[in-house]
Amino acid sequence: MTLQEKIQRFYDTSSGLWEQVWGEHMHHGYYGPDGKQPKERRQAQIDLIDELLRWANPPQVHQILDVGCGIGGSSLYLAEKFRASATGITLSPVQANRASERAEAAGLSDRTRFQVADALSMPFADQSFDFVWSLESGEHMPDKQNFVRSAIAS
Ligand SMILES: C[S@@+](CC[C@H](N)C(=O)[O-])C[C@H]1O[C@@H](n2cnc3c(N)ncnc32)[C@H](O)[C@@H]1O
Repeated sequence: MTLQEKIQRFYDTSSGLWEQVWGEHMHHGYYGPDGKQPKERRQAQIDLIDELLRWANPPQVHQILDVGCGIGGSSLYLAEKFRASATGITLSPVQANRASERAEAAGLSDRTRFQVADALSMPFADQSFDFVWSLESGEHMPDKQNFVRSAIAS
């Protein structure tokens, strides 16, 4: 079994449980600069997104690519925040389907889409997006230089 197949199987089988425990965001939270601010878990996960945005300070966000999108937590949050379009890719068909369901429920299915694709072999033409987001998925990529190169090219 390839690494990609193992990752796919892991998220196909565990994403339902992750969603129950962690909600729609499959990443850690931001608890202030010293990591000690008491706050609710989901708020901390959203605060991490906002803190990273503050740091990145993107000049424009119209076409978002979310690399390793999970069940679409960040994609939908960013699409809504910036009134932008978002494409999320994941290795897991179960996640892509769940993300699409969540987009539908949020009324965002007209400008978001979720698909199975490998970040190390992007199916998009270069410069298809003006903002590339990737949160807690890079650790899965065996070739991190290729991952970053592909993200920049997208
Ligand atoms: C811990 S989850 C993070 C999900 C999401 N970024 C979030 O914050 O909710 C890791 C994600 O990385 C994706 N992933 C790992 N390797 C990938 C690859 N080579 N190509 C695309 N997605 C990948 C997994 O399918 C999974 O969706």
